[in-house]
Amino acid sequence: MDRNLGLELMRVTEAAALSAAGWMGKGDAHQADDAAVEAMRKAFSAIQFSGVVVIGEGERDEAPMLYIGEKLGNGKPPKVDIALDPLECTNSVAFGRSNALSVVAAAEHGHFLHAPDTYMEKIAVGKEAQEAIDLSKSVEENLKNIAAAKQLPVENLTVVVLDRQRHEELVRRVRKLGCRIHLIPDGDVSAAIATALPDSGVDVLLGTGGAPEGVLAAAALRCLGGGFQGRLVFRNEEEIKRAKKMGVKNVNKIYTCEELARGDNIMFACTGVTDGDLLKGVHFFHGGAETHSLVMRSKTGTLRFITTRHTFDRMPDYE
Ligand code: FBP
Repeated sequence: MDRNLGLELMRVTEAAALSAAGWMGKGDAHQADDAAVEAMRKAFSAIQFSGVVVIGEGERDEAPMLYIGEKLGNGKPPKVDIALDPLECTNSVAFGRSNALSVVAAAEHGHFLHAPDTYMEKIAVGKEAQEAIDLSKSVEENLKNIAAAKQLPVENLTVVVLDRQRHEELVRRVRKLGCRIHLIPDGDVSAAIATALPDSGVDVLLGTGGAPEGVLAAAALRCLGGGFQGRLVFRNEEEIKRAKKMGVKNVNKIYTCEELARGDNIMFACTGVTDGDLLKGVHFFHGGAETHSLVMRSKTGTLRFITTRHTFDRMPDYE
């Protein structure tokens, strides 16, 4: 894969972010998501590659665009697998809240887990603690091991958790250890990334969120050099059947970061839609808008924070 593919992917997340941001605070999550999907789909068509969606908007019969198996790009080499979330935190855009992103990751063919659209129990940390995590151990053991790896007392850890009823017991146990907790309304992809950024103020992501988002987070942490583990969590028998159909052999398996996003050629791009801890959102001005993106590559570990000023009457149409 050409090293500039990451920058091409950023054009795609920029296009999706610009379209979705127009729906900020208008109360319509579907319109915001549709706008992101449509813009992303068009922007992909300008890329010179044979892409195929492995993490997308759903299965073919559920999603009109960017469905699993959809071919992207102009059909020329290289052959690349794509994991995407045109709008991560759809409700944050609809209700004018923070931290919404547009996200895309790329890997060589066959290198992403084909994760079903179910939940995943997750743990994410930065580089120093990547060897200290093990989802087969208790929350208490993990936090103590992470603290030891970071040479901190356990009560000095800040743990980020999605604010959900299902996490009441988890929060109680983390509090008992004396750790600080950052409860977030949505957005565990950017929370996972934050654990690997030195100045983010968070050390660990714990809890259950979307499985596709787990693969995207693992791709980002492969680039950043952090640690991630995930175990699929199913709500019913139907989800287990679908997972098996997608190739999941052991439904209780704990996946490492390297098993979710394999190989040494992972690329990751995201653009802020609404202002967030990781990136600023889209800021409109007369005749244009400014976007803020992060582009990363696992081979070199390069992180590029890119600010782009877009002039609307000169932007590509991609048709
Ligand atoms: P969406 O944009 O699909 O709504 O995802 C937002 C999100 O908060 C993810 O970051 C997270 O993985 C997932 O939802 C958690 O799912 P749920 O809202 O069902 O608890």
